[in-house]
Amino acid sequence: MADQIRVLIVDDIPETRDHLAKLLGFETDIEVVGAAASGREAIEIGAKLLPDVILMDINMPDMDGITATERLAAEVPSAAVVMMSVQGEADYLRRSMLAGAREFLVKPFSSDELTSSIRQVYTREREKLARIALQPAAPGSAPASRPAPGQTREADEPGRIVAVFGPKGGVGRTTLAVNLAVAAATELGQRTCLVDASFQFGDVGVLLNLNPKNKSIADLLPELESGEFESLDTFLVNHSAGIRVLLAPPSPEMAELITPHGVKRMLETLRLSHDLVVVDCMASFNDTTLAILDLADTVLTMLSLEITSIKNIRLFLEVAEQLGYGSDKVRLVLNRADSSLGIRVADVEHSIGRRVDHTIVSDGRSVVYALNRGVPFFLSNREAQVSQDVLRLASAVVGTKVAVAGEPAKKSAQKKSLFAWR
Ligand SMILES: Nc1ncnc2c1ncn2[C@@H]1O[C@H](COP(=O)(O)OP(=O)(O)OP(=O)(O)O)[C@@H](O)[C@H]1O
Ligand SMILES: [Mg+2]
Repeated sequence: MADQIRVLIVDDIPETRDHLAKLLGFETDIEVVGAAASGREAIEIGAKLLPDVILMDINMPDMDGITATERLAAEVPSAAVVMMSVQGEADYLRRSMLAGAREFLVKPFSSDELTSSIRQVYTREREKLARIALQPAAPGSAPASRPAPGQTREADEPGRIVAVFGPKGGVGRTTLAVNLAVAAATELGQRTCLVDASFQFGDVGVLLNLNPKNKSIADLLPELESGEFESLDTFLVNHSAGIRVLLAPPSPEMAELITPHGVKRMLETLRLSHDLVVVDCMASFNDTTLAILDLADTVLTMLSLEITSIKNIRLFLEVAEQLGYGSDKVRLVLNRADSSLGIRVADVEHSIGRRVDHTIVSDGRSVVYALNRGVPFFLSNREAQVSQDVLRLASAVVGTKVAVAGEPAKKSAQKKSLFAWR
């Protein structure tokens, strides 16, 4: 039957494989096409059978399920992995999601939980593929860049620089920068680099659960001084969410050594090898921040429904006008837009004399849960409204239309293999 979901079962225990196959045998829309007893076998059989969904055990001899999932993301990208484990701990969940798993089932699970997970990931994957199919492909070559709003960029043109700024701290800049970068890379096929330009107290590494011993911009001081960045790539950390990250220095005093000129040259170099460079800026309006904002194509300026935030935005907009930044460059993003704190969006717009361009809902549960686990909520809770809002914003920034819940499907960017450009 053409519409059946083709499932591959991977578990080292034969009884478990049989049991799962029997359970799924009752479902008319699901067909078990094969079974594997190890991660290595899963890759081999997966490449031959091209299943839609792979049910993957974590603990297996030979090659464990997390390593196999990582490999499958590159070798059989059309298969969506549902991880199964007796360990329900956050660390397993986090590592599985980072490896590319779409769902996580804690054993023992019910037959309903199993079948609804399979159907859910399959439907999500189909929707994603449908969006990709609607994107016109550049003849002969994979496009290296996306058209910006209102303009068409050639493949070899430098990528877009998007500064995530906010004249007041704690408004959600890092949260947005991280999830925007992940959304652009995973859903819009953008070769994305995320730069933590909160040089004193950068939080990007924490949100992405990166080892603080990784290389950071502090290792680039000679290059920042000279303005020559020959091996910039080796200072970027590859994150399994499909983005590259340039971390902030490990200690605050090093921030003073980073010059505006050096940062400008560095971003100019980064945009040559990426479609999108997302920069998480400091709240303070110093020379380095100014250099980043000057260079940026888009300044996502974040505000919240708080009187101090609104006051600072008003001041910033005045400065932005003096600097000659147009309203197409400075985009206002209202975070936690649905928080009822006594100020309405209309009051804000009236006060600053401008419409808010984008809104992001408040979702403490998804955002803080993700933060504490070091997994971007865009990955761990893809269906949440807050993720939809981020995707909508990402697509507006890179100039593509995507089908977001509640909107009719149009076209979206072409998805490339996350690792093809590394
Ligand atoms: N849409 C949202 N819904 C709920 N909580 C949010 C949302 N956006 C951000 N937060 C929470 O607000 C807090 C501040 O967010 P974040 O660290 O991203 O802000 P920031 O502007 O980068 O702050 P800083 O000035 O410290 O760099 C965090 O605890 C984050 O989890
Ligand atoms: Mg921050």
